[in-house]
Amino acid sequence: MSTLIKGGTVVGPAGAVPADVLIDGEIIVALFAPGTAPEGPEIIDATGKYVIPGGVDAHTHMELPFGGTFASDTFDTGTRAAAIGGTTTIVDFAVQRTGEVVPDGLAAWHGKADGNCHIDYAFHMILGGVDDESLKAMDHLVGSEGITSFKLFMAYPGVFYSDDGQILRAMQRARENGALIMMHAENGPAIDVLVKQALERGETDPIHHGLTRPQELEAEATSRAIWLAAVAADCPLYIVHLSASKALEQVRHARDLGRNVFAETCPQYLYLTLEDQLGAPGFEGAKWVCSTPLRSKHETHRADLWQGLRTNDLSVVSTDHCPFCFKDQKELGLGDFSKIPNGIGSVEHRVDLLYQGVVDGKLSLGRWVETIATTPARMFGLYPRKGVIQPGSDADVVVYDPHGRTRISVETHHMNMDHSAWEGWEIAGRVDTVLSRGEVISAGGEYTGRAGRGRYVKRGLSDYLL
Ligand code: URP
Ligand code: ZN
Ligand code: ZN
Ligand code: ZN
Repeated sequence: MSTLIKGGTVVGPAGAVPADVLIDGEIIVALFAPGTAPEGPEIIDATGKYVIPGGVDAHTHMELPFGGTFASDTFDTGTRAAAIGGTTTIVDFAVQRTGEVVPDGLAAWHGKADGNCHIDYAFHMILGGVDDESLKAMDHLVGSEGITSFKLFMAYPGVFYSDDGQILRAMQRARENGALIMMHAENGPAIDVLVKQALERGETDPIHHGLTRPQELEAEATSRAIWLAAVAADCPLYIVHLSASKALEQVRHARDLGRNVFAETCPQYLYLTLEDQLGAPGFEGAKWVCSTPLRSKHETHRADLWQGLRTNDLSVVSTDHCPFCFKDQKELGLGDFSKIPNGIGSVEHRVDLLYQGVVDGKLSLGRWVETIATTPARMFGLYPRKGVIQPGSDADVVVYDPHGRTRISVETHHMNMDHSAWEGWEIAGRVDTVLSRGEVISAGGEYTGRAGRGRYVKRGLSDYLL
């Protein structure tokens, strides 16, 4: 079956051009100057709309075990919501918990995902225990399982934490086997001291989650990770969920020195704040407890992050989608902020939320597409199969209506959450039609995809390896 997406403006990192996109089966086969395509295929009318590669969300946590509970989206509900919001590939984090072996963690993740996804999916691996065995497993995952990136934690002692020696060993191994090290860069042991002191003072509200994770402890860990990577023969390093000006400074400095250091931020850090969301009255702020935390609106974080996206010191926007319901899940931390499960759910809204950068004149159209689709695909070895509209690529395509509007609410979203971190937001732009490998799975608000059609994608090495 062939389809022609006709009359739209195709957007990629290099800019926007009017073109018609011809799809044959699951693959994009040609781009034509407007009106020059052969007749015959099924037509999707994209007049007045943008035609962009489907979003690639490189940081999600479906069903993550955390804080005595599980992230509330399954691979079924979470990938369906992603698809409706214009994301056609996710890279989720398989988990080796401390005390568990890597192959078991990976098998468990395939068990959760396989047969349940609405869109294509891939995995990173969280290493919760760096030792001889897990380092050997790392080689196997890179060589045979299509898993070429590994997340380590400088935070959460006793849960996912690695000490500096473990981090160095994993980085040295990654330098040898071509993997990318992803870092949760917060100084966990220091944070734990501040948390204990706050609780002893009777400070139990959600805002203290943010106040006990000051940006200095994100910047310090970011800097330490950068120098450890230097010692590991310049192992490539990717800082996840960067939230703060001082951490960004460390990344910018490293990049100015030509270091192989990259970072992502997330929509919550571009828009939401410690005071307005995390500091909401009573226990309400629990909805916005995530790590790294939301930062103060009285400092320059948000403006600096937008600038970092423009200068490419931040190269990717992912969601860190890790939803928990308020009732029974966030409520585990009533009376003790340190027991609130960490995470915000936004997998459905990333494409729209970042489009506001275009509307507000903070990002070019090309940069929007680059940060939400093309660079994550290249960073994580999915390119050119994903993240670009060109002949030979998978026909993962979004027709985006710049004149439409999107209202975000728990009443209308598709994520398995009993609240929205973005409740009542009305924003410009709207996902109109979503194709995944040539199949229309969402059009004009009607969803026609199905669980199990999404395939596991084995990833190659990062394009950004030096
Ligand atoms: O709060 C967050 N980010 N939860 C998910 C786990 C992580 O550290 O990414
Ligand atoms: Zn295997
Ligand atoms: Zn993290
Ligand atoms: Zn995460």
